[in-house]
Amino acid sequence: MLTVRKSEVANQHPIHENVKSAIINCSVTKMTGLSRNAKFIRERVRSHNSYFEDSIPLIASENVISPLQREMLNSDFNGRYAEGWVGHRYYQGNRYVDEVESRGMELARKLFGCSFADLRPISGTVANMAVLFALTSPGDVISTPALADGAHISTAKFGAVGMRGVSTINYPFDTEKMNLDIDGTRRIILEKKPKVALFGMSLFLFPAPLRELRDAFEEAGTTVWYDGAHVLGLIAGGKFQDPLREGAHIISASTHKTFPGPNHGMILSNPRDEEMEKALKRGVFPGVTSSHHLHEMAALCIALDEMQKFGRKYASQIVKNSKALAQSLYDRGFSVLAADYGFTESHTLAVNVQRLGGGSSCAESLESVNIVVNKNMLPGDESSVHPSGLRLGTQEITHLGMKENEMDEIASFFERLLVRRERPSDVRKDVVSFKKQFRKLKYCYGEGYPAYKYEKFMS
Ligand SMILES: Cc1ncc(COP(=O)(O)O)c(C=O)c1O
Repeated sequence: MLTVRKSEVANQHPIHENVKSAIINCSVTKMTGLSRNAKFIRERVRSHNSYFEDSIPLIASENVISPLQREMLNSDFNGRYAEGWVGHRYYQGNRYVDEVESRGMELARKLFGCSFADLRPISGTVANMAVLFALTSPGDVISTPALADGAHISTAKFGAVGMRGVSTINYPFDTEKMNLDIDGTRRIILEKKPKVALFGMSLFLFPAPLRELRDAFEEAGTTVWYDGAHVLGLIAGGKFQDPLREGAHIISASTHKTFPGPNHGMILSNPRDEEMEKALKRGVFPGVTSSHHLHEMAALCIALDEMQKFGRKYASQIVKNSKALAQSLYDRGFSVLAADYGFTESHTLAVNVQRLGGGSSCAESLESVNIVVNKNMLPGDESSVHPSGLRLGTQEITHLGMKENEMDEIASFFERLLVRRERPSDVRKDVVSFKKQFRKLKYCYGEGYPAYKYEKFMS
């Protein structure tokens, strides 16, 4: 029997009452031989699972995975190496790895309608580094959205772009439409003729205007790179936009946000020529990876297959849910951005909570009632530590089967806590009770599997 003393728990990073009691009351038998540290780590991870089981997860960049993907993560693919390309590896032992990866690439090419798919980048950032490696040289200038307007940190001087020695020019942004200013962006492409034009954001509410700018890309001879980390699952499900048909040559992405796969990355492309394809392959290996985390790659292959089967319904419900959540919050007096433009076309919505205490304080209050969100800079903000906004995403709650009606219920929790200032303990009780109905997975093989189940391999 493992008992964690109350005093030990109280001294840790603040956690909620229900989590504390889960830790205190847990009884794990037959753990002889495990060190105090091992027991501690195991219990904390298990507690994390129950914490999320009792919480409403609204971080726009996260998700849960299917049971079959979990099987892949637990396989012997973990810890093996398969450097090189399928069929041309540097090590032996890859006969099954090659079959799996080859099938996965085929699935990816079909799902995204492209001639080239590389499943080896181990995250979205690593995929971005590989593309930079492939397309640019130190001293080059590329065009990107600005960080303050929602671009990802990998486009920053202190991120992957800076590491490559590349500098950026930013597109102008229309803060009403929460999208790039099309005329200004066109001027930049035509006047500066950047070698590479990057699109895609971390606060990605509306499709990038690729179609509208296509003629400018062609006239300037620019290679168009789309960072689809956030919206890959929407693209796979036929929503949001179809970058490779709208002018992009390359998509880099994470595979664990709206795309409900493992923590990993991917590159998809209709390369301009053989040189570009070779450069992309070299960019990934030996450029920025050695092991490509084969267990994740196998889980990604399952996710690709699941998205082929379930992706359209999943993506469509995600967008319906984010529009519904935005509308319900707006109707309750919240300042949801881009109200005149339908709030969002993606999984994400942005709320200005400056008058309610700011992003930081609201995110912490919400956390105290088991609603997990992140504070976010909104256009015009200068501090990333005390920004004015919250960013909310509906991809995980949709994965758990929530629909439009549940969005109204979630908006009511926001109102009770942040506007009516009800006691957090009362709101949290209702959040936990509401969440009990939404703990199981949908849109995957093994629907109904408990999403936050902690799988034990030893007692
Ligand atoms: C637009 C964008 N690109 C890349 C990334 C990096 O993804 P990863 O966390 O998989 O490295 C993110 C992460 O949130 C992102 O928002």
